[in-house]
Amino acid sequence: MMLHPRFRAAALPAMLAALSLLSPMPKLQAQTAKPDSVTAQPFGKTTDGKSIQLYTLTNRGGMHVAIATYGGTVISLFAPDRTGRLGDVALGFGAIEPYFTKSPYFGALIGRYANRIAKGRFTLDGRTYQLAKNNGPNALHGGLKGFDKQLWTAEVLSQDPPSIRLSRLSPDGEENYPGNLKVAVTCTLTNRDELRIQYAAQTDKATILNLTSHTYFNLAGAGSGSILAHQIKIHASRFTPVDKTLIPTGEIKKVAGTPMDLRQWTAIGAKIQAVGGAPVGYDHNYVLDRCPVIRPCLAVEVWEPKSGRLMKVYTDQPGIQFYTGNFLDGTIRGKGGKVYRQHDAFCLETQHFPDSPNHPNFPSTVLRPGEVFRSTTVYKFSAR
Ligand code: BGC
Repeated sequence: MMLHPRFRAAALPAMLAALSLLSPMPKLQAQTAKPDSVTAQPFGKTTDGKSIQLYTLTNRGGMHVAIATYGGTVISLFAPDRTGRLGDVALGFGAIEPYFTKSPYFGALIGRYANRIAKGRFTLDGRTYQLAKNNGPNALHGGLKGFDKQLWTAEVLSQDPPSIRLSRLSPDGEENYPGNLKVAVTCTLTNRDELRIQYAAQTDKATILNLTSHTYFNLAGAGSGSILAHQIKIHASRFTPVDKTLIPTGEIKKVAGTPMDLRQWTAIGAKIQAVGGAPVGYDHNYVLDRCPVIRPCLAVEVWEPKSGRLMKVYTDQPGIQFYTGNFLDGTIRGKGGKVYRQHDAFCLETQHFPDSPNHPNFPSTVLRPGEVFRSTTVYKFSAR
């Protein structure tokens, strides 16, 4: 079987970038940095009394992102509009407590397995594992206490560009997944206004793995209303159709001639009713077109006409979940008391395909001892 180029051995630049996950940045860069490019402040406590920190990364242009050690959660992300004015484009809460019980994964790191596993069950090397069914009949986003509800250890890697590494050991049997899994997620805000997220993981027993970041974006500003007038372009000619419980049927289908075709600039709202679903909207994994030589490569572009903000998503992953906040129903009040309604945000979760362990025709999500999982996703902001 031909390996998808997104799975071939990393090209040299990608390998060098990946190595930087493990070693601190050179001193030279630290010396030229502004003293306050990475700041940390207390951000409440977990229910069992552990301190949570909020790291704020500010780049030379003034763009800033705040990330909590609880869930590795992006709490805010301030990006410039076409006049240069910064606005918070990430939905969420102003304090950590609502994240414990009310959050539909706003901004969080997701693991061990992002998206759904049918009936919460998979078989690996002849052994069947049963996960918690926390989403109807299925498992979703790592279980009852997934990576989004764990406390991560943070360390500052660099001040310029501001960069932190979040890490944790997910013990053997956590949420019933096998193997002690060491995970490190490096978050860097480059001086080109890119939020670069680099994932690395190793296990001591064969396991399955699918990591992502679950920020809900609204490029006109979090809480400013619907995203249906945002324009989107997804570089994918195929997608994975799903059943009523959002589990892939196993088919890899062409988008051509369907409302899933977003290969040309399209308003998110233009075909959303035709996409259907209950609740209606996009909640689908796109099979990204092949990266040419350089990875990560461009997967999705989103442009918001009023502010002019443009976000480009680059990844080396084979898929991306395009989710239009279909389950937001006006019952959540977020930052600044703003109510989040259906289609008030979109997520672009770079990932392997949902339920891959139960679909041998999908790229494998198995990680074995001795292997290192590495992946990079970049969210690049500009305005026009
Ligand atoms: C899923 C949605 C889900 C949302 C929040 C997305 O990744 O595809 O179905 O509602 O996460 O849990």
